[in-house]
Amino acid sequence: MDIESKMQIKKVNRAYLDKQDVQQPLFPWTLSFTWEIPLSEIINVEISKYAIAIILNHKSGDMHMNVLAINGSPHMDEGNTAMILNPFLAGMKEEGASVEVFYTRKLKIGPCNGDMSCWFKNPGECSQNDDMLMLLPKFRDADIIVWASPVYYAGITGPLKNLMDRQLPLYMMGVGSKKQKAVLVSTCGAWELSMFDPLLAQMKAIYDRPEGGFEFAGALLRPMAEGVKEMLKAGETRLVEGVFLAAIEAGRQLVKDGRISEETQKAVSKELMPQDAYYKAAQEMKEQAKKEMGK
Ligand SMILES: Cc1cc2nc3c(=O)[nH]c(=O)nc-3n(C[C@H](O)[C@H](O)[C@H](O)COP(=O)(O)O)c2cc1C
Repeated sequence: MDIESKMQIKKVNRAYLDKQDVQQPLFPWTLSFTWEIPLSEIINVEISKYAIAIILNHKSGDMHMNVLAINGSPHMDEGNTAMILNPFLAGMKEEGASVEVFYTRKLKIGPCNGDMSCWFKNPGECSQNDDMLMLLPKFRDADIIVWASPVYYAGITGPLKNLMDRQLPLYMMGVGSKKQKAVLVSTCGAWELSMFDPLLAQMKAIYDRPEGGFEFAGALLRPMAEGVKEMLKAGETRLVEGVFLAAIEAGRQLVKDGRISEETQKAVSKELMPQDAYYKAAQEMKEQAKKEMGK
């Protein structure tokens, strides 16, 4: 890390401390990011181990947005997916949205048993008694749904897919009577952006349905996420800072304009190093890890 970036980090940390009464970090790496919310706008700050909600006062005339985010990474807030998701949510909060984040790892949600009883026997009711009962009304009432997942074998994680399948009773609960937007946030180990294609195809198949009141509003995709983490560890914040700032901006845009610009989505996915250099470094790290394990 050069002296200039050290000074920048110190400066931001200072600003962060000065404003501790009005903001809380949502990021695993708090060193570079702050957002400013006037004290008069804050009604309440709710802090739990895994989520921080800043409840804002909304100006009259503002469209109040309810955002429901589900993070399907087993690493929760320590993971690569949270490193993109959390600044994105911060940007939405900055624009006055109410945001709730749930972690599949903390939820008890079994797979759908496929008996269709939520359609035919007891319409709108699931026969299983688990955390999905609490989540279903939140899905119904959300204006924006954020699906966040690492890529696992070219798809979303198993627990997140289970949760997704268990939305089936919603079809009988009157969802579709309001407009809902969905966003995908995903990270992967590969360098290639095409690694996200299957996840994008799934999201579009579900949400590209204006006639059903649904809209797929975009995706924040971060390839070579392990590399980003290593860069942060090495203090190379300047290279990756733009990615996080773009994630914040994406949140702001979504609430303010109802869409995330192509340019902002591209900035989240931006190439940080050539493909061969990334895979060479990854191979070296693997060899090193094997050596350390004595294999
Ligand atoms: C079981 C498993 C399967 C994975 N499959 C892929 C994959 O198909 N493609 C890929 O690029 N990365 C894959 N990865 C890497 C993760 O997507 C990547 O490390 C991600 O950023 C982890 O996010 P998290 O820290 O939020 O869990 C896989 C990781 C695991 C543990």
